[in-house]
Amino acid sequence: MSEVLYRKYRPKSFSELIGQVQVKDILSKVINSDNPSHAYIFSGPRGTGKTTSARILAKALNCTSEGPKPCGVCDSCKSIDRSSHFDVIEIDAASFRGIDEIRKIRDRVSYRPSMGKYKIYIIDEFHMLTREAFNALLKTLEEPPENVVFILATTNIEKVPDTILSRCQIYYFKNLTVSEISSYLKKILTSEEIEFEEKALERIAYAANGGMRDAVNILERIITVSDVVDFKSVKDTLGLLPDEIIENYINLYSSNNLSGLFEFSKNILFEGYSFENLLDQTIERLKEKMLKGYISKSEGSELINDFWSIFKEVKLSENKKSVFDTLNLFKSYKFSKNWPHDHNIEEIEKIKEIKVEKISGESPEKIPDTNMKNEFVNDMAENLFEEGNILEWAYLLSSDVQEKEGNKLFLNCNNKMMRSFEKNVKDIIINRAKKYNKEIIFNGNDDVDLHLLDNLPEAEKNYVNDLIDFFGAENVKISK
Ligand SMILES: Nc1ncnc2c1ncn2[C@@H]1O[C@H](COP(=O)(O)OP(=O)(O)O)[C@@H](O)[C@H]1O
Ligand SMILES: [Mg+2]
Ligand SMILES: [Zn+2]
Repeated sequence: MSEVLYRKYRPKSFSELIGQVQVKDILSKVINSDNPSHAYIFSGPRGTGKTTSARILAKALNCTSEGPKPCGVCDSCKSIDRSSHFDVIEIDAASFRGIDEIRKIRDRVSYRPSMGKYKIYIIDEFHMLTREAFNALLKTLEEPPENVVFILATTNIEKVPDTILSRCQIYYFKNLTVSEISSYLKKILTSEEIEFEEKALERIAYAANGGMRDAVNILERIITVSDVVDFKSVKDTLGLLPDEIIENYINLYSSNNLSGLFEFSKNILFEGYSFENLLDQTIERLKEKMLKGYISKSEGSELINDFWSIFKEVKLSENKKSVFDTLNLFKSYKFSKNWPHDHNIEEIEKIKEIKVEKISGESPEKIPDTNMKNEFVNDMAENLFEEGNILEWAYLLSSDVQEKEGNKLFLNCNNKMMRSFEKNVKDIIINRAKKYNKEIIFNGNDDVDLHLLDNLPEAEKNYVNDLIDFFGAENVKISK
């Protein structure tokens, strides 16, 4: 394949353009009326057909055929398809933002078209023009010469000054639907004589998020490495995780299998998957299961809620694994009623008995008893130190960290906060730290300002609050 797909299959007439029904309807009337306006704005998300439509319109306006326009075969149509028409000028404002370009237009705009009936300027991403350039453009639009048509395309219409908007006809391009995109991909593959699975095309369409160019690009990536476009090749290309992994994650999480979850997250990174993809797919899968009635609505929405909040925080965080692990630990605790077989019945019963009204008073929640808590802290400390990520602990226990002499960590702690943690928590941390050759020294001090924590980014604030919540230190919660 010598030519990239999206260029090769760029629609050459409105009948080939997928979707955008309203736009096509009105533009077809414009073409037939033979009385175009001086300026059009094509607004809409990227890859939905704006530049394509601009070229089709330009062709139709200059087409010399007597029949339906654009004919696609006259000299004018052909040269526009080759981008070599003298009177159809394309400018990419993203690369040429300056006034010089627009001045050039203004200087030349008064010359009559040399080859066709209209002189047509297609300005892509024209919201990127500088203010001076906008003003120059505006002057031209105020007194447009005969036979000049501007087609202005933009993905950010809100950045365009009203003075310009009011002088243009505006067309809104929409995101394409999954079925619109799949049908187009199907057409390409059929003509390229490449085998495919319907289901695979739908998955590409879904990943492309409404943009045809992205969909075609994904398709291109797949067929350069695979002879067929099947679900597996799509998954490999998009970094999608196999269903078994998703199922495994849901099981580990909803059974609160902590050691399993640690092992799992290591493998995810090892296999080269991203936590974002994992969580995104898990949420989709749960929705599907709920719809099909495989899981109850209440269980499904509880899990989706959890994964969604983990997703948001992982996305914002730099140390994704650490946040992923720690939030899995916190949030999956509520499923400890399903605590699996490696714990004895007695323990399970104990956990069930403990119902603690949360301070917020909304819903009674189960939290693990003290023994369990030790295990939890152990697990978590293990994990955080392993990651070399002691900062979370520092946030938790102090508002100021100073590392000295390499392995000694001095934490300036607010006394009130320290008192609100159980002693064993502190001991576990100190012992864990020793194992990793770190010595932690807590400096109790009433002057340490807890409000420092208020300046953390939202995601970290939630994270710290979750930690504080878990240890039951409600009186030191930081403000949202
Ligand atoms: N509505 C559509 N129908 C068919 N193909 C499309 C459509 N929109 C975009 N494409 C495909 O995507 C490519 C890029 O489209 P383009 O018109 O440049 O998008 P935009 O200018 O809106 O970013 C085209 O070459 C074509 O292959
Ligand atoms: Mg474009
Ligand atoms: Zn023609």
